[in-house]
Amino acid sequence: MNLEIVNCTPYTDQKPGTSGLRKSVKQFQRPDYLQTYIQAIFNTLEDREGSTLILGGDGRYFNREAIQIILRMASANGIGHVFVGKAGILSTPAASHLIRKKQALGGIILSASHNPGGPDGDFGVKFNVSNGGPASETFTDTVYQNACVVEQYRIRPIKPIPLDKEGVYDLFGMKIEVIDSVQDYMELMESIFDFDKIGQLLQSDSFKMRFDAMHAVTGPYAKRIFEQRLGAPEGTVFHAQPLANFGGGHPDPNQAHAKELMNQLYTNQGIAFGAASDGDGDRNMILGNHFFVTPSDSLAVLAANATLVPGYKQGIAGIARSMPTSQAPDLVAQKLGVPYFETPTGWKFFGNLLDAGQITLCGEESFGTSSNHIREKDGVWAVLFWLNLLAEKQDSVENIVRQHWAEYGRNYYSRHDYEAISSASGNIIMEHLRQQLATLAGTMIRGKMIRAADDFSYTDPVDGSVSEHQGIRILFEDGSRLIFRLSGTGTQGATLRVYLEQYEADVANHDQDTQEVLSDLIEIAEALGKVKELSGREAPDVIT
Ligand code: G1P
Ligand code: ZN
Repeated sequence: MNLEIVNCTPYTDQKPGTSGLRKSVKQFQRPDYLQTYIQAIFNTLEDREGSTLILGGDGRYFNREAIQIILRMASANGIGHVFVGKAGILSTPAASHLIRKKQALGGIILSASHNPGGPDGDFGVKFNVSNGGPASETFTDTVYQNACVVEQYRIRPIKPIPLDKEGVYDLFGMKIEVIDSVQDYMELMESIFDFDKIGQLLQSDSFKMRFDAMHAVTGPYAKRIFEQRLGAPEGTVFHAQPLANFGGGHPDPNQAHAKELMNQLYTNQGIAFGAASDGDGDRNMILGNHFFVTPSDSLAVLAANATLVPGYKQGIAGIARSMPTSQAPDLVAQKLGVPYFETPTGWKFFGNLLDAGQITLCGEESFGTSSNHIREKDGVWAVLFWLNLLAEKQDSVENIVRQHWAEYGRNYYSRHDYEAISSASGNIIMEHLRQQLATLAGTMIRGKMIRAADDFSYTDPVDGSVSEHQGIRILFEDGSRLIFRLSGTGTQGATLRVYLEQYEADVANHDQDTQEVLSDLIEIAEALGKVKELSGREAPDVIT
């Protein structure tokens, strides 16, 4: 009844990258482009009949239209029940939590994360499976294969569902519940952190915090949790209104894009703690007064102090970090005597380790941190974790990090991004590096001895699956590392990422400028990768 079967021509470019299918809005607006991809997802879900689905997005341009289309297609494909975030809003971590809580078959999250939005920006579709985490490569490969051959999609007639108020609706036999986007997530946070202590800190006159929601999805979450629930003064959260184009900004919480927050923390306004999150709420940046915490250090500090937080007071089972992330968390794991893992870039590789109980905390250098409470990275969770530590230790962010370095040594770390170079240049640079791999080990360059060089390959310790070509690693005798990889989330040409890390044990040398400390490695990267020559770029576009 009311079922429409529409003939369509498949697209051959619907191959998901690091986090789902990400394309420009213009590409998504091609005839039936969204529909063919969604149908390919449903075709991959053989057990979808009568199942429950979570649906929401980061509020970017095309979010609402996409939700109405997906609801009509879900009904036509036999889904029984869909939970939708109010106004179509669900942060990625909140969606991950709801999938688990509602025992859903999975969730469709509409987001291009930190990529700019608006009619000329990007859009994206991610599918998360029943454990709440991103679908595995096997799953996304099948979706891609299905997308390449899909010739029909199933949809129901137009019946717009009011998204702006909570309620229960019927769409030709499928139940739709429009729910409060924040409540379930906030309850989960209350079960992990000491809200009383954090509340006291946020309400005290001597502590000022700023949270930059970057006009993206965490606005409603941060307002509700930090201001309304924990009592931080109004204005603590700024850029709080989610906008379809993120106010024209680039919703990526780093030193380059969260400029206003940086200004507030780096001038004398007496702000003790600054934080920001990205388009879909899974990333975080942590700042102290005049002080930036690298995401790698942040993970290490959280791990070292986890037992101060009620949710982790029993200790942690282990830590995982993505390969390009600095080795600072490994040092903590060694000291705690717990296992640690090095996975390829992308959150999907943490899922098996979390499900198997082998790790409790995990993170990436790209401003992503989380734990076993969900199966995604979680921006607001990381901020609450830091607040809980600050409330317990009654010390500044800078002191906490400096004491950490004094105990473990400092991993100087930086990432240099060459954005939107041509795909051809990106491939030539990587190929040029690959050709040198066999002969690099044992060579001395700029006074540094290369211990090993390879193209990173990962064997999942839980299911044995192998992921190859995950980035070129050049490892030095002194523990320094140089890593090159191409981004899997960009939508224009190629983005080359160069990751640099150098370890310094001596506390007397912990106060140096990061780029200066890394200057030898930067020269070595250029000598080996010929990035400037082969890309035609004079300097990186973004340094984090
Ligand atoms: C980037 C980050 C990666 C992260 C992903 C999704 O991917 O580098 O760590 O998991 O975004 O947020 P990339 O563009 O490097 O493939
Ligand atoms: Zn994101």
